[in-house]
Amino acid sequence: MAIRLGDEAPDFRAQTTQGDISFHDWKGKGWAVLFSHPKDFTPVCTTELGAVAALKPEFDKRNTKVIGLSVDPLESHKKWEGDIKDVTGHQVNFPMIADADRKVADLYGMIHPNASDTFTVRSVFVVGPDNKVKLTLTYPASTGRNFQEILRVIDSLQLTAGYSVATPADWKDGEDVIVVPAVSDEDARAKFPKGFVAKKPYLRVTPQPNK
Ligand code: BEZ
Repeated sequence: MAIRLGDEAPDFRAQTTQGDISFHDWKGKGWAVLFSHPKDFTPVCTTELGAVAALKPEFDKRNTKVIGLSVDPLESHKKWEGDIKDVTGHQVNFPMIADADRKVADLYGMIHPNASDTFTVRSVFVVGPDNKVKLTLTYPASTGRNFQEILRVIDSLQLTAGYSVATPADWKDGEDVIVVPAVSDEDARAKFPKGFVAKKPYLRVTPQPNK
């Protein structure tokens, strides 16, 4: 069964480039991004892993650990890291799961047989402090992901968790946010001291509360 939003992210033990881990223990009480790539020594994947390595400080700022996965063995991951550094200038600075027996890929539904029987698709799972899945994304092998977008989603998820706000289309950090409909006008006045504007009774905007 596919993993859906709100499900507990399944726990697993795995071999990684930074040692053996138990996923929930490794993640701890923070946030995590678990993402798969189809295969080592492939062009799009090389650019993606370099991009994630470059953004690691941004994930750290958000108390978010990142972990990659493919169904290649550990030695392959380790060798490939040299190429990633050569091409992108970034040393891979997060663990990559060596899932040669596809245990984790199957657990998370990362193999889509009508796309490929052998390789994982480009899956992304964002997992919250409560170990619940907050976001899932699936891209085909031919399209590299936009990891700035993953950061943007984490910003939105963390605002929702902390302040009962939602974020509008194309929202970026620092822009106005939306008071969720479950909060009454009276509660909103107490909760958002900067005030809010009701564009419609159901669409109330307020300055980003943590700025
Ligand atoms: C790539 O990363 O470039 C790639 C991987 C598998 C299939 C197609 C492209």
